[in-house]
Amino acid sequence: MKNFKLNNGLDIPSVGLGVFRLEDNKEAQKVVELALSVGYRRIDTAMVYQNEEAVGKAIKASGIACEKIFVTTKLWNENQRKGDVQEAFEESLHKLELDYIDLYLIHWPVPGKFVESWKVLEKIYKSGKAKAIGVSNFKRHHLEELKKASDIIPAVNQVELRPYLSQELELEYCDKEGIVLEAWSPFTAGKTGLLKDEVLLEIAERYAKSTAQIVLRWSYQRGVITIPKSSHKQRLEENIHIFDFELTESDMNKIAQMNVNKRIGPDLDNFDF
Ligand SMILES: NC(=O)c1ccc[n+]([C@@H]2O[C@H](COP(=O)([O-])OP(=O)(O)OC[C@H]3O[C@@H](n4cnc5c(N)ncnc54)[C@H](OP(=O)(O)O)[C@@H]3O)[C@@H](O)[C@H]2O)c1
Repeated sequence: MKNFKLNNGLDIPSVGLGVFRLEDNKEAQKVVELALSVGYRRIDTAMVYQNEEAVGKAIKASGIACEKIFVTTKLWNENQRKGDVQEAFEESLHKLELDYIDLYLIHWPVPGKFVESWKVLEKIYKSGKAKAIGVSNFKRHHLEELKKASDIIPAVNQVELRPYLSQELELEYCDKEGIVLEAWSPFTAGKTGLLKDEVLLEIAERYAKSTAQIVLRWSYQRGVITIPKSSHKQRLEENIHIFDFELTESDMNKIAQMNVNKRIGPDLDNFDF
């Protein structure tokens, strides 16, 4: 596993396991234990995924010291609207059975609320109960708004990102601001046939890798973290074995040309949850 460095000096594994849509806690625990056993050291959950308890149990059952596992969880929108951000954080901590969270994110930029929420995250960060704080689904204008109100720059912005939605401008902006970009649904959650795209198939064949590995390696070479989800051992292994080859500039450019700015998620300025 290779790490990236966050703007406060913390190391973060460049590939982790995402556990969205694993609401069955027995299944979620099994998958997280499996991932940890094959070498994952990063788990991305959220209060709204309803599996923080399973993640906590899996970490305990793995026998791996929790300091060696990088855990992210996220503040849900309802808690921003209710203004019980600190309580929501404590609840996540309790469910995960951890003393601290490695990275705590604001899940969505709830209009009129996210700056207030960030102020609470700052306090949590200063208390040491979160080693880093960041955001998710923020556009540049949301980040600019935070910048005006706070001197703590988010460590991470977790956004929808894959070859069909390469987020070039976001990446440029975040690089400049010292924010690491993180890709959610790097495979489009299996929905768009990305992993069967001819451009990726051709590249994958030349490197004797899978198309999934090409997508993850492309992200890694751009300095973008990925958190692919899989419930299968062979795929879990495949998704972290991307460090023994390097895509040429020409192949990086071919993948860049796949961008069509197509989202599967909602517009970040217009979501109704
Ligand atoms: N911040 C946000 O708003 C937000 C939103 C969405 C997601 N996320 C995060 O991003 C994580 C990943 O996104 P996601 O779960 O939506 O989807 P994803 O990782 O893009 O795709 C998962 C799908 O790809 C399949 N897959 C995984 N590895 C594969 C491989 N090597 N070859 C072929 N197929 C493979 C999985 O099938 P199997 O499981 O059957 O292997 C599953 O159907 C989430 O779990 C969550 O942590 C965050």
